[in-house]
Amino acid sequence: RVVNGLLEDGKTVGNYRLFTVIEKMAQANIVPGLKTPVYGYAYIDDDGVERPVRVPGPTIDVDRTDTANAGLPVKVRVINQLPATHPQWGHEFNTSMHLHGSASLPQYDGYADDVTEPGQYKDYWYPNFQDARTLWYHDHGVHHTAKNAYGGLAAQYHLHDKVQERDLPKGAHDIGLTISDAMFAADGKLAWDEHEHSGLWGDVILVNGQPWPYLEVTKRVYRFRILNASIARSLRLYLSDNSEFAIVGTDGGLMPAPARVREYKHAGAERYELLIDFSKYAAGTVVNLMNRSNKNNIDYDNTNKVMQFRVVGTPPVNLVGNTMTPRLFTADIMKVAVSESKRTRVFELDHDDVTNIFQINHRTWEDVRQSGYSEVLTGTSTPQIGDVEIWEFQNKSGGWYHPLHIHLVDFRVLSRNGQAARPYENGPKDVVYIGEDEIVRLLIKFTGAPGFKGGKYMVHCHNLPHEDSDMMQQYAVGTVPN
Ligand code: C2O
Ligand code: CU
Repeated sequence: RVVNGLLEDGKTVGNYRLFTVIEKMAQANIVPGLKTPVYGYAYIDDDGVERPVRVPGPTIDVDRTDTANAGLPVKVRVINQLPATHPQWGHEFNTSMHLHGSASLPQYDGYADDVTEPGQYKDYWYPNFQDARTLWYHDHGVHHTAKNAYGGLAAQYHLHDKVQERDLPKGAHDIGLTISDAMFAADGKLAWDEHEHSGLWGDVILVNGQPWPYLEVTKRVYRFRILNASIARSLRLYLSDNSEFAIVGTDGGLMPAPARVREYKHAGAERYELLIDFSKYAAGTVVNLMNRSNKNNIDYDNTNKVMQFRVVGTPPVNLVGNTMTPRLFTADIMKVAVSESKRTRVFELDHDDVTNIFQINHRTWEDVRQSGYSEVLTGTSTPQIGDVEIWEFQNKSGGWYHPLHIHLVDFRVLSRNGQAARPYENGPKDVVYIGEDEIVRLLIKFTGAPGFKGGKYMVHCHNLPHEDSDMMQQYAVGTVPN
């Protein structure tokens, strides 16, 4: 089946763009011959007509250079029309939408306990002042993020900038690929087994919601925005003929220069942008995107395959961005010197073997709740807007890796176990793979949208069963509003 990622560019209302999504239940045909209940996003188009739920949800497509101001404001109205409790898993179906990769104001950041109940809606405002990047939106409801994202509440969001992306493929050659894994019961329902909070590993690999699909490509360079939206699985992607491709973007946007690789590691919630040149293949060639096994994942017979590219003979009609050596862009965080750091903070990632709870600095989200949401990782020496700091994460949790995500900021990976970061991680990031027993150092600059004064933001593991139980903390930055 063909991979399709449908784009929506919203409706212009005054000086902002409006998108309306409805969270609701639907039946999807994912595995041939079976109906799967999903809980995803329907989209209301410009004429007010509701389009059916898609999993993943509609890709929101915004160009910040469509306005003379610093960013094109977007309002996403999220209407919760889910059942009061989850029909399969029984939890209250309250939701909180997070736009992952956006420096949103705290009240629009999808704070885990700031939930919208079924029957209610919430308007989320996004500033879009940041560099061009691939973001994604997903549910962040407290303790149920894993099941809610798995059931369908996840989608891409593309933020463009005409200058930064000038040399990159566009339109039909700029394709979002959301990779996830799932397991299905005999009746077609999504199955759930989180192996005592360690993670969900499905035996079916989905790309844009379809199992092992194919995409027809012409003989030219394509840009793929790859999101690993798996609940827990980390990927090591390569092409079946072992040929080289270029990584040009990381979570927070474009890298200063392309990194040529034959394989790379891609943890949950990370985004990598790849350029693949299909011009060297004869028409009719099939190239598979493959996945090599990663430590501490559970693999099945076909989890080593992701999707197929089928090279067609039709000559490419559009040669915009048809280069493997584009001029890219140096993001601010890549220019910050380590000497600008005001302080170094050290955090431990742990696991309590008695309660089987994952923690950061021996604390959990439940501790944050019990503090009346006052407890912050940053203690009394709150970073101020504009500050640069080094955050060091030490993985002392035993046999687990953790894709660690910090809300609000873009950071740079300084080192892993004292060694330089991987060349393809050398771009702006907001999630970092912290492997078993690793110590990872990040350089962070605390900034926000123009006029931003401060707030509290979450820090958590993006292996979602870890996050839900209960590997999440918050930090304070700047002046925290009451
Ligand atoms: Cu993508 Cu706090 O998450
Ligand atoms: Cu984790």
